[in-house]
Amino acid sequence: MLLIAEKVFAANGDNPYMYGMLAFGLEECHRIAEAEEYGRQAIALKRDNRWAHHAVAHVLETQGRLEEGISLMESLSDTWEYGSSAFYGHLWWHTSLYYLDIENFAKVLEIYDTRIWGRAKKDNGREQINAIALLLRLELRGVDIGSRWQEIAAYLQPRIHEHTLAFLDLQYIYALVRGGKDDWAAEMLESMQTHGENVLPYARPTWVEVGVPAARGMIAHARGDWKSAIAELEPVLPDLHSTGGSHAQRDLFEQIYLDALIRDRQYHKTLNVLEKRNASRSNIPVIQRELANTYSQLGRSDEAHQASQLALELSQRY
Ligand SMILES: [Fe+2]
Repeated sequence: MLLIAEKVFAANGDNPYMYGMLAFGLEECHRIAEAEEYGRQAIALKRDNRWAHHAVAHVLETQGRLEEGISLMESLSDTWEYGSSAFYGHLWWHTSLYYLDIENFAKVLEIYDTRIWGRAKKDNGREQINAIALLLRLELRGVDIGSRWQEIAAYLQPRIHEHTLAFLDLQYIYALVRGGKDDWAAEMLESMQTHGENVLPYARPTWVEVGVPAARGMIAHARGDWKSAIAELEPVLPDLHSTGGSHAQRDLFEQIYLDALIRDRQYHKTLNVLEKRNASRSNIPVIQRELANTYSQLGRSDEAHQASQLALELSQRY
């Protein structure tokens, strides 16, 4: 996307959508500051430039600018009404991520019920993904999500043999298990394998060597089998980018891996992941809380105390 945007930018400098396209390409290539600049310029040129809202939302998410994210997105949300329903849901999904990190879970559930699944075309894959990707994150935070998995899973049968992107399949299959559709999940896993063996050669490793093991890891986590989840996910995490999706979306898989490590009491590995996450986003209460717990399990009491103090301060700030 970035290469294309750069190539055609000079000839389209008066087109506000051009700036949004460039902004998202830059964000996904980790050129965050430039992404924000072009994204904001795109919005200044055209307020209802939803793709540019999305690019800036990614920047603010990556940098943990939570309150800023909420106020920017909500101030523009009136313009989302007229776009595609799946993208409406995705923009609210991004807004929910900030609320998740400030731990206003009631607000996240409200957005889920009224703006994401509540308004979704229930048979649309993209809309299903917005919903699944939020439910899963809520559960990882320990929030009781009631019967929402079952409600989604009922609509997932058309996804079993679809295989648009392995990244999407990993989330569908998780929802199937959590929603009690184990037979559909088993059918989907087998279908992913067959698809991987028959797909064009360039895509084969993504499906067979990354997608299928990751799907086994997702199923294991959904069933509470932490050791298998770790064993399946750990080797493929560095290659998951090949399955599709954005950095923000794929972060889910690291969160699942981290959750499995914590529940399996593998504190050294847990600490590695947490310290890496803390380096890029040091103002997230849950990261500080988990760091505090991990340091304390490893007998590093000063660091544990420091992290727990910071967790408390952050919780009070939000
Ligand atoms: Fe996004």
